[in-house]
Amino acid sequence: MFFFKTGLKPDGDDVQGHMRETIEDGLSHLSDEDLTAIAAYLKAQPAIRHPVRGLKSATATPSYDEW
Ligand code: HEM
Repeated sequence: MFFFKTGLKPDGDDVQGHMRETIEDGLSHLSDEDLTAIAAYLKAQPAIRHPVRGLKSATATPSYDEW
């Protein structure tokens, strides 16, 4: 909810690019009820693992060959 309204991530970084526009022009104007429904849907999805470019986690292993 906080991210959808502000664009601020848990690490304090602010979101960039198209996602910033998505929040400023879209998500931040939705009702709390709609944002709660989006968050509930996302949290209900099973977690997936995949290589992430520019990895921040010290525990994950980058695998750029798979891109
Ligand atoms: C309900 C719709 C959406 C949800 C719930 C959502 C959620 C998110 C979240 C949680 C992140 C942060 C990922 C992270 O850094 O940990 C993110 C990033 C991003 N999203 Fe979305 N997103 C949505 C729609 C969109 C749309 C429509 C676009 C493109 C038009 C978009 C483009 C991006 C981009 C480019 C980033 C990376 C931004 C950055 O690195 O600062 N997203 N999104």
